[in-house]
Amino acid sequence: MNTISLAPLERWLRGTAVFRSIVRHGASETNRNRSLIVFENLFLHVHPVKVREKTLRFSHTYWLGGVTLACAVLLVATGVPLMFYYHPSVPQAYRDMKELQYVVDNGVFLRNLHRWAAHLMVFTAFLHMLRVFYHGAFRPPRQFNWVIGVVLLIVTLLLSYTGYLLPWDQLAFWGVSVGTNMAREAPVIGEKIRFLLLGGNMVSENALLRFYVLHCVVLPVGLLVFLAVHFWRIRKDGGVQGPSDDAAGSIDEAGS
Ligand code: HEM
Repeated sequence: MNTISLAPLERWLRGTAVFRSIVRHGASETNRNRSLIVFENLFLHVHPVKVREKTLRFSHTYWLGGVTLACAVLLVATGVPLMFYYHPSVPQAYRDMKELQYVVDNGVFLRNLHRWAAHLMVFTAFLHMLRVFYHGAFRPPRQFNWVIGVVLLIVTLLLSYTGYLLPWDQLAFWGVSVGTNMAREAPVIGEKIRFLLLGGNMVSENALLRFYVLHCVVLPVGLLVFLAVHFWRIRKDGGVQGPSDDAAGSIDEAGS
C-alpha cells in the first residue's frame, strides 16, 4: 500500500521564518535537540531532562498529581465561560443559575462540568497527598515541597468553599452562614474575621461580592503561583520519588 510521506512538508514548515521564530530547536534527531525540546516546552518542563524510566510508571504516582492539575485546567476552562453568564448581585445570581439551566445552550453541561471537576480536584488532591505520604516523599529534600503542597490543598479547599456561595441558593446561604459562624468562634479575632469575610454582620450582597472576587481572582492567581513553585521544586528535588526509592539517590541519578 502506498503511504504519503509528510517529510517534505515538515522540512518546508521548519524552514519558514514564522516557524523558526516560534520553535528554536531542530527536529528530534540528535540528543542535543531532544534536550532542547524538553527545555523549551513549558509542559514537558515539569520533568527534569533525564528521568529514570520507572518514575514514569503508573504505580509510581498513580497520576494523582497530574489528574489534580488536569482538574485545575478544566476548572479554569469552564469557569471563564461561566463568568460570561453570571452577575454577583443578590437577585440576579440565582436567576443566572436558572437561566443557565433552562435558556443557555449546554448551560447545564457547562455548570456540571465545573462542579464535578471541583469535587474531583478536592478528592484527587487529597489522594495525591496520601500517595506522597505513604511513599515517604515528604522527607528531605522534599520537605519544602510538602509545605507548598499543604498550601495548595488549603487554596483548593478555599476555592471549593467560595464557589459554594455563588449560586445564592439555600444550600449556599446556609453553608456560608455556618462557615463564617465557625470562623467567629476563633479566639480574640474571630468576630473580626467574620466581619472581614462577609463585609458586614450578616450574609448579604457584600459577602457575595467578596466571595466572587476571592473565587474568580485572588485564589486562582494564588493557586497558579504556588503550582509554579510546586513544579519547580519537583524538578529541583530530582523528580518524583516512588515506593522503593532512596530520596537523596533519585537526585543524583535523575539530575535537573
Ligand atoms: C492543587 C493541588 C496539587 C497539584 C495540582 C499537584 C501536582 C503535583 C504533580 C503533578 C506532582 C508530580 C507527579 C505526582 O506525584 O503525581 C506532584 C508531586 C508532589 N506533590 Fe503535589 N500537587 C498538589 C497538591 C499537593 C499536596 C496537597 C501535597 C502534600 C501536602 C503535595 C505534595 C507533593 C510532593 C511532596 C511532591 C513530590 C513527590 C515525589 O517526589 O514523589 N502536593 N504534585
